[in-house]
Amino acid sequence: MTDQAPAPYAGPQRVLSGVQPTGDLHLGNYLGALVKFVRLQHEVPTFIFVADLHAITEWQDPARLKDQVREITAAFLAVGLDPKLATIFPQSAVPEHAELAWVLNCVARIGWLDRMTQFKDKAGKHKERASVGLYAYPVLQAADILLYKATHVPVGEDQRQHLELTRDIAQKFNHDFAAPGFFPLPDALTQGPGARVMSLRDGSVKMSKSDPSDNSRINLTDDADAILQKVRKARTDAEVLPEKLEDLAGRAEAQNLVGIYAALSGQTAQQVLHEFAGQGFGAFKPKLADLAVAVMGPIGAEMRRLLADPAEIDRILADGAGRARAIAAPTMAEVRKIVGFWAG
Ligand code: TYM
Repeated sequence: MTDQAPAPYAGPQRVLSGVQPTGDLHLGNYLGALVKFVRLQHEVPTFIFVADLHAITEWQDPARLKDQVREITAAFLAVGLDPKLATIFPQSAVPEHAELAWVLNCVARIGWLDRMTQFKDKAGKHKERASVGLYAYPVLQAADILLYKATHVPVGEDQRQHLELTRDIAQKFNHDFAAPGFFPLPDALTQGPGARVMSLRDGSVKMSKSDPSDNSRINLTDDADAILQKVRKARTDAEVLPEKLEDLAGRAEAQNLVGIYAALSGQTAQQVLHEFAGQGFGAFKPKLADLAVAVMGPIGAEMRRLLADPAEIDRILADGAGRARAIAAPTMAEVRKIVGFWAG
């Protein structure tokens, strides 16, 4: 026994993140995740995948799943991911994700998974009827990240707990198999005003693909008319905007719209208040709607253009899958050896 700290990870930096193909992407996905992918691809080797293995934790129509993957890929490209810089791939094209997930299932503890709030939200009252996959989902997410030895994971605030679990799993693997520094302890990149975009209909719940009200979110595929309508209908209060950020406390809807404006315009919420202090939502909403149309409108149009040529999307995904496997396969080979598998 030694009281020295275990050796830290000394490998290269890598960025990785994933998005589930389970519905239209919205402003929350865009501001919480996609814009960060685009920025980071210029700085660090970046791996972005469509999480189709995660998607089937809840039933998906097999006849639609491939198209759903293409739609998310079109969104990645439309917001500015460059397949020459970032490696873009479908998760199921790299079977090592599922293989590593099995090993990590044997490292993670049931008590750790029992604490995951997203499972509780998704499973609802009848958790015994949820799939085992939905319960084990955060371990698959840890495998996604650790397979590439990713050091930085850009995600929205709702994924923070899964990233903490990933660090715990990495640490326990390194310790239990006497492989200090084998897996990095990845950092969640959740900073910025878009980290938690709330529903336009209720400032206390996050904007979500699964909200039954389409008016609760702005979809990447919405046209200018739909965006204008949704911003106009967004829930607000009757007060004017204050000068100071702390005076927005207790006004969830106002806070959300100011945050969205800030994220879309690349300012801080305080700068936005500086511009609009003393004005009511009658004046603020049209400005927000114009800004949202200017930023989001071209994305929807570009997605439609890209989806008209699915063969090109498939080519990009196949190329990305090859590049992803070139990193994933050696990691998995090392894991097999470390664990002592016959096939190691
Ligand atoms: P998913 O598909 O639900 O969401 C994709 C990304 O969008 C972010 N996001 C939001 N950000 C701000 N405000 C919101 N209202 C909002 N809603 C969603 C999410 O935080 C996410 O970054 N488990 C992941 C997918 C995944 C993954 C991974 C991510 C699978 N494996 C490995 C990172 C690394 C998920 O369901 O995201």
